Amino acid sequence: MAIEKVGVVGCGLMGSGIAQVAAQAGFAVVVREVTPELVDKGLKSIEKNLARMVEKGAITTEERDQVRGRLRGTTKIEDLADRDLIVEAIIEQVPAKKELFAALDKICGPATIFASNTSSCSVTEIATATSRPHRFFGLHFFNPVPVMKLVEVVRTIASDTETYEDLVAFAARLGKTPVRTSDRTGFIVNRLLVPYLLDAIRAFEEGVGSIVDIDNSLKLGCGHPMGPFTLLDFVGLDTTYYIANIMFDEFKERRFAPPALLKRMVLAGWNGRKSKRGFYDYADPQNPRPLL
Ligand code: 3HC
Repeated sequence: MAIEKVGVVGCGLMGSGIAQVAAQAGFAVVVREVTPELVDKGLKSIEKNLARMVEKGAITTEERDQVRGRLRGTTKIEDLADRDLIVEAIIEQVPAKKELFAALDKICGPATIFASNTSSCSVTEIATATSRPHRFFGLHFFNPVPVMKLVEVVRTIASDTETYEDLVAFAARLGKTPVRTSDRTGFIVNRLLVPYLLDAIRAFEEGVGSIVDIDNSLKLGCGHPMGPFTLLDFVGLDTTYYIANIMFDEFKERRFAPPALLKRMVLAGWNGRKSKRGFYDYADPQNPRPLL
């Protein structure tokens, strides 16, 4: 089946990135948020990214206008009724996702493919809210979406193989590298990344090194673009804590258990870059200062 018309639900950090890369790849995109203000905010962040690409000479002003022309914002869920594929990127909570997909299931035709950008919820469970678990998948993008080349394409025990391959091909048409994975909490990336990030916190708690020294070690010793604490602040401490708890619940292994320090920082509201405080203080964003 040819995917041409794409719907994105949620126009926050991830949803706006997904809408942007889909429009850049030539798809007609309708992106839905709950209020006109949020629609506006999401589209403005896409426009800002496109303007930066024009400044760098990556695209022409004509191409920018074409990409922008393929994007339409809405608050009405009904505007997604004619889509070939709908990608959801809303809050990471199963009941909210199920409620959304149950509503979409009623208004979309039987051929519409549903995908969730979830990083930690069970795709199998969300799919039960619909009459089409065979056409329901995970499509997990990485932050920042316009830059990161990977998409995890997640199948469940109920997935239809041919439709799954259509979705793998769609991810490739976005200019991304798709990887095939199954519905196990964390998929491939977070299965390996989350224990690594948690271990960095434990190493710090045990006095193995300072925040800056551990960050520099992984950055300069292993060629990572960011050390673990910079990455934790970038992903969000609350997000990491949430994912770790879900993974611990699934696997019951210590390596997924959130360290006490992470919990305390989340309780204190030190959620990383977005709250201007995490393992670093971002009062001066150009010059983050370690807090502990
Ligand atoms: N949107 C669009 N473009 C962006 C961007 C954004 N938010 N942030 C950076 N860029 C672009 C810049 O414009 C620049 O483009 P250019 O090379 O064409 O000039 C390029 O990315 C590099 O940016 P910078 O020079 O400003 O900075 P860096 O070289 O440090 O790169 C980074 C920034 C791409 C974020 C890099 O540090 C990186 O790859 N970090 C690791 C990110 C990562 O691991 N993400 C995955 C997190 S895990 C996840 O998302 C899963 C979830 O489930 C938890």
